[in-house]
Amino acid sequence: MRPARPIRPLRFATVALTAAALTLPLLSGVATAEPSAQRKDPHSHAKQDRLRAAAPKGFYVGTAAAGGGHHLEQDYPDPFTYDKEYRKILGQQFSSVSPENQMKWDAIHPERDRYDFAAADAIVDFAAKHGQVVRGHTLLWHSQNPAWLEQGDFTKAELRAILRDHITTVVGRYAGRIQQWDVANEIFDGEGNLRTQENIWIRELGPGIVADAFRWAHRADPRAKLFLNDYGVESVNAKSDAYLALVKDLRAQRVPVHGFSAQAHLSTRYGFPGDLEQNLRRFDALGLETAITELDVRMDLPESGVPTPAQLTQQAEYYERALTACLAVEDCNSFTIWGFTDKYSWVPVFFQGEGSATVMTEDFSRKPAFYALLAALKRA
Ligand code: XIL
Repeated sequence: MRPARPIRPLRFATVALTAAALTLPLLSGVATAEPSAQRKDPHSHAKQDRLRAAAPKGFYVGTAAAGGGHHLEQDYPDPFTYDKEYRKILGQQFSSVSPENQMKWDAIHPERDRYDFAAADAIVDFAAKHGQVVRGHTLLWHSQNPAWLEQGDFTKAELRAILRDHITTVVGRYAGRIQQWDVANEIFDGEGNLRTQENIWIRELGPGIVADAFRWAHRADPRAKLFLNDYGVESVNAKSDAYLALVKDLRAQRVPVHGFSAQAHLSTRYGFPGDLEQNLRRFDALGLETAITELDVRMDLPESGVPTPAQLTQQAEYYERALTACLAVEDCNSFTIWGFTDKYSWVPVFFQGEGSATVMTEDFSRKPAFYALLAALKRA
């Protein structure tokens, strides 16, 4: 016999209840009522309640697979490896997974002459077993680089060889098993200037290294779609303009760049980027694929720590609008949320006072945002 489910902590029970009870007038047109299956067992994800099943053919709904990074400082074991309930939902709900930290330099290349593929392999194997595609993340970035690299004393020739070997080794290892790679991550600042100081590669080797990174990645896995990925590029602005110019430039040089993606770490403090679709279309028009790669929608939490129904409604609207924008653009076929449960979200750790950014509570109860995504996928 299955042991009885432990009683849920009050604060989450409250959220779930309020969200359910108020579904209706408040969520005008955004979320649908909770299906009856959910009332019986809040954790059973019946087929009609699965994002991946609701998605149109060829459209991938993804999530980050939690582990590494900020999780290492939390008092729980590695989520992806140890949390059974989490893994079950990950497999059932999503058709794409992105290693949240497990393919970043500090994780996968901890010493100059040593790679550690264990955590990344586990995700790629899980994805294969569950019929999911994988977004590789990331190869050229200013952050989460190991100390041996950032503080090393290398000549330019050595640095170039280090990057080339890394890309060749990592991309080569997963060749044929990665649908999209974030080759370059966050290479521009908010003004649309290349990060010539923070980014070790651009600082030491010059802007041409970006093109080389794409060339090396393409050589190592000609089937993978290679992306430029950043935050703050949801709208038409200086930063996305800079990407547009860069893409034109790279294409003119016949550099194999295939996609442009917006992370979409959104906050209800700011308005929704209403020109997201228009912006993605600019890249689509150049023949690029587009994607939403790290969507979450954080909010300022009330003192209780529990979002109000109005906050959850607003959040659901943001999620739905981001998805709808992507669905509307022909070659936007990959839509990824940066984690699906507040239990493991990076948001409270990085944004003081903000939280509740994902589509499920800490105990995996689905929020209005989840139902808004499900409904939008079914409509598509
Ligand atoms: C975050 C992870 O979620 C955290 O676990 C980690 O501690 C820091 O990085 N942009 C990106 C992601 O491209 O890799 C970042 O992920 C969030 C912002």
